Amino acid sequence: MYLASRRGNSHSSDPVTDSGLGSFAPSSPRTRHVSNAIELHGLGVRYKALAALDGIDLEIRQGEFFSLLGPSGCGKTTTLNIIGGFIEPDEGEVLIDGTVVNKIPPYRRPVNTVFQSYALFPHMTVAQNVGFGLRMAGVAAASIQQRTREALGLVSLVDFGARRPDQLSGGQQQRVALARALVNRPSVLLLDEPLGALDLKLRKQMQAELTRIQREVGITFIYVTHDQDEAMTMSDRIAVMNRGRVVQVGTPQEIYESPSSLFVADFIGASNVLRGQIVESRGPWSLIRLDSGEVVRVPASPAHEHGSRVWVVVRPDHMSLAEGATESPDLNVLEGVVRKVSFLGTHHQYAIGTAQGAQITVVDPLSSPDRRPVKPVMEGAVSVTWPASASLCFKDDEAEALAPRSLART
Ligand SMILES: Nc1ncnc2c1ncn2[C@@H]1O[C@H](COP(=O)(O)OP(=O)(O)OP(=O)(O)O)[C@@H](O)[C@H]1O
Ligand SMILES: [Mg+2]
Repeated sequence: MYLASRRGNSHSSDPVTDSGLGSFAPSSPRTRHVSNAIELHGLGVRYKALAALDGIDLEIRQGEFFSLLGPSGCGKTTTLNIIGGFIEPDEGEVLIDGTVVNKIPPYRRPVNTVFQSYALFPHMTVAQNVGFGLRMAGVAAASIQQRTREALGLVSLVDFGARRPDQLSGGQQQRVALARALVNRPSVLLLDEPLGALDLKLRKQMQAELTRIQREVGITFIYVTHDQDEAMTMSDRIAVMNRGRVVQVGTPQEIYESPSSLFVADFIGASNVLRGQIVESRGPWSLIRLDSGEVVRVPASPAHEHGSRVWVVVRPDHMSLAEGATESPDLNVLEGVVRKVSFLGTHHQYAIGTAQGAQITVVDPLSSPDRRPVKPVMEGAVSVTWPASASLCFKDDEAEALAPRSLART
């Protein structure tokens, strides 16, 4: 396996590896356990009145594909730059492979960065670009050639070594940048929106390629994106960030199915967001009177106080359409009218207007026709149903952090 066998080897005589953290480890009195590739403890960064980072704590495991996901300005790049050593935090500690690295400069950390702008040297060939770092580190020519070839093989560009960057497509240039970052065998690769400049098709292709490469080399990838689909597709775990803080860490499934706040529910995946007030909490269910007048049920929680203002969140794929459905303790029903039907290849999407003016989105996969006992027609009356257990409920005090992209509101 390429590269992976070298991870954790801090006593190599290779000058490139030795310029990494390995040479620091023995002299550092602060070496800790090494199960995590990266640990961030209480990171804080201030720009005048702005807290760009406000107490970031994260543990990223060896070999993980870990994504930082959040809206523009939430602190993703700042966090990555602190790990890379380009920014020194005002507060907190950064550990790489168990060693505190706050005072270690970027070029001595076993970490490489791939930026959105590929930053290739235009006058050098692809092979010279990839081998540049090794040349600077004084690696022998034969070894540079072999390792450059290996790295180009990894990104499927073995036959492109003699070309110049301007003779490559955007996706190929990005792969050269990736090969250049991998060739000196970092233990962690930082990627800051590396696919941002690519069109959608190439982006999808590179997502698959990056995932494959990460599995193959076994290096820890820390991947920054504000594209939730990208993070969900590629990551082992995701840290969702907002306003300089980590608001949830989990697998894509955990974050989608059990968002910890309204912000996360709204940012990850499509959501219908309904506004209401708790009017009763009894047995397994709490009853919410929506501002539009209807009453729906959500799973009860000790946090539910009578009279509290709340947001009820339901995923469009948890909703179904029916004709004249009647509610039951575990089934919520809202009456509406079909406003729009969209065919989206793998599923139908319906926009349903309720009598009170709210718009609800319902998604119906083509693969499950049994879920659709009714064939919705434009402007036809229809019932929207969903299991009460599929309702998420968040307190009002989380509303201020809401990202402005909900599908529906009442
Ligand atoms: N050098 C700086 N001086 C002042 N403010 C800064 C500086 N660098 C970053 N900031 C601010 O810190 C916050 C976090 O910035 P950061 O670049 O980490 O965001 P981001 O999550 O990477 O956003 P994007 O998705 O737009 O790249 C932003 O509000 C930004 O304006
Ligand atoms: Mg950024």
